[in-house]
Amino acid sequence: MSAADTRTEALLVTGGAGFIGSNFIRWALAERPAWRIVNVDKLTYAGNLENLAQIAEDSRYRFVRADIRDRARMRELMGEGVWGIVNFAAESHVDRSIESATEFLETNILGTQVLMEEAREAKVTRFLQVSTDEVYGSLGPDGKFSEATPLAPNSPYSASKAAADLMARAAFHTHGFPALITRCSNNYGPYQFPEKLIPLMITNAMAGEALPVYGDGCQVRDWLHVADHCSALGVVLERGEPGEVYNIGGSNELKNLDIVRVILESLGKPQTLIRHVKDRPGHDRRYAIDSSKLQSRLGWRPSIPFGEGIRATIRWYQENTLWWQRIKSGEYLEYYRRTYGERL
Ligand code: NAD
Ligand code: TYD
Repeated sequence: MSAADTRTEALLVTGGAGFIGSNFIRWALAERPAWRIVNVDKLTYAGNLENLAQIAEDSRYRFVRADIRDRARMRELMGEGVWGIVNFAAESHVDRSIESATEFLETNILGTQVLMEEAREAKVTRFLQVSTDEVYGSLGPDGKFSEATPLAPNSPYSASKAAADLMARAAFHTHGFPALITRCSNNYGPYQFPEKLIPLMITNAMAGEALPVYGDGCQVRDWLHVADHCSALGVVLERGEPGEVYNIGGSNELKNLDIVRVILESLGKPQTLIRHVKDRPGHDRRYAIDSSKLQSRLGWRPSIPFGEGIRATIRWYQENTLWWQRIKSGEYLEYYRRTYGERL
């Protein structure tokens, strides 16, 4: 039993209505029965209470609709007793950051700063900043990102995440603030918003629509199942050393085109659905992560092989067609207002 298990205070999870945050909340309620969770989410287009329908009535869980930039609200919530914070809240899609970056700076940098200042004031003992391997920039054909790799973000999204990481680092060095930073590779799994590669391709293929592959499709990402990311976050939250950075990854490098082919094959759809479209501006060529620090110091290991994880993910999208069809049709916003109106 960890120290956190004996506390009456809550764990504040921000952005818990998104993809990874909602998976993390389900993980925490199942794996850490003594924890109470307060989920603070603004419900942007990416936030979806349907992701948490299974646990919405759990007495250990509470949802609060709020913006992490709202200082007074964050102070009020932390005043109710919070032992730790896991900060998932972010604008998270690279393509949207290319269209317009301001919201990324506001939430990802300023929102994180508000949270850290209020957490310091409230003497919160653990602050986990959920960051990304994209802060390291792009790799050539060889090598991997380690925690010592210099930050060289290339997109407005990754630049905003790198800025937040640096502010967390500064808070630790200046104020002794108990910040922990994780940098994870690309996640996949259930409840991922169908604008990201894997759910977009699965749902387009299921609907018999074209699969838009940027450029030559030979960009490489290091894919990790979201459940493995969640278990790693749990380990870092409980046993990580404040001030430290931990890379998280599954050593599972794949070309985009290979993933798209696997998806089509698994769904029995023709490869002719693939369309090479104009490349993303500034598109990072390759990410690969060395997570040996997390593995050797804290004993974490990924447990879901990609073949198994992708089959389960495809099955999840097949079994939850209403979830993604409502999102893709745009009807979800109205549907959620009707269903969850009193909570919003
Ligand atoms: P997501 O876009 O699915 O979810 C983000 C959530 O944050 C949404 O529920 C949204 O409503 C909420 N949010 C946005 N702005 C907010 C604000 N101002 N106040 C309160 N809530 C707000 O993102 P995700 O894929 O679940 O990613 C979660 C975190 O993990 C992000 O910080 C991202 O940078 C990081 N990350 C993601 C990946 C990945 O592959 N998806 C990999 C590594 C790291
Ligand atoms: P994405 O899921 O947006 O994650 P990230 O950009 O954070 O790595 O994209 C993963 C890869 O898939 C990336 O190389 C861009 C590519 N991609 C496509 O080829 N087509 C698409 O429609 C999308 C959304 C992504």
